[in-house]
Amino acid sequence: MATIIDGKAVSAAIREEIAKEVETFKAQTGVTPGLAVIIVGEDPASTVYVRNKHKACLDVGMFSEVRRMKEETTEEELLAVIDEMNRDDKLHGILVQLPLPKHIDEKKVIRAISASKDVDAFHPENVGKIMIGDYDLLPCTPAGVMALLDYYKVEIQGKECVVIGRSNIVGKPQALLLLERNGTVTVCHSRTKNLSEVTRRADILVAAVGRPRFVTADMVKEGAVVIDVGINRDENGRLVGDVDFEAVEKKASAITPVPGGVGPMTITMLLKNTLTAARVALKK
Ligand code: GUN
Repeated sequence: MATIIDGKAVSAAIREEIAKEVETFKAQTGVTPGLAVIIVGEDPASTVYVRNKHKACLDVGMFSEVRRMKEETTEEELLAVIDEMNRDDKLHGILVQLPLPKHIDEKKVIRAISASKDVDAFHPENVGKIMIGDYDLLPCTPAGVMALLDYYKVEIQGKECVVIGRSNIVGKPQALLLLERNGTVTVCHSRTKNLSEVTRRADILVAAVGRPRFVTADMVKEGAVVIDVGINRDENGRLVGDVDFEAVEKKASAITPVPGGVGPMTITMLLKNTLTAARVALKK
């Protein structure tokens, strides 16, 4: 039976560490690390995520501001708020919750956030820095995956790492981070031929496809470490990952559950980025 990688427990341990570091930082600088989260509209899932981010900040002793804007907000109005927050010294991180209403250009909004406050690491400047391995901020989900692998002492160097999914938020940066740690990395996607042949080579398999139970047992090598980034609802409305957990658990050496695997790590890495952004801003 596989080791169940407990994202909730790892998350709690790292948040405790962050809370201590925040306390030290405040004592040294007199400054409280601060995060602003902007939400436009009332998407139910986004509303829950934003509430969780706010609470997580307060729990580790950070300052948190949530700016709720109505669905009809214009791009111009949103850009004006970002501009004001870019210049606000209380705020070290700014996050615009996605998705945005269709009439707002997401790319333009991401570029408007000061790269040094971009705690999602979505800004092209931060993406470029990750590409050359010279960065301060990392995208939260792939960073959370790396933190889980490290916590469970999964060796990456020289291992076959297969990432399913090539999104800008997860797949692509995940591949770069595994490569940086000397993994042999393959990125698969919807046009990949003989997908299961590729995935069966993986010592470390990261699934970020967005399709419920997409990764079946026959796609996984005996003893592989399987990381499930998916959050989907199945036909019965149950929260499931991209991996058929019950079947794959029997073959893997370690596996993340959904919920309770990668999910809790994402906000933890957001807190880490906010502290990093504050440190960089104050040169501490
Ligand atoms: N919506 C869902 N996940 C994310 C995320 O990681 N960052 C932002 N900004 N919006 C999201």
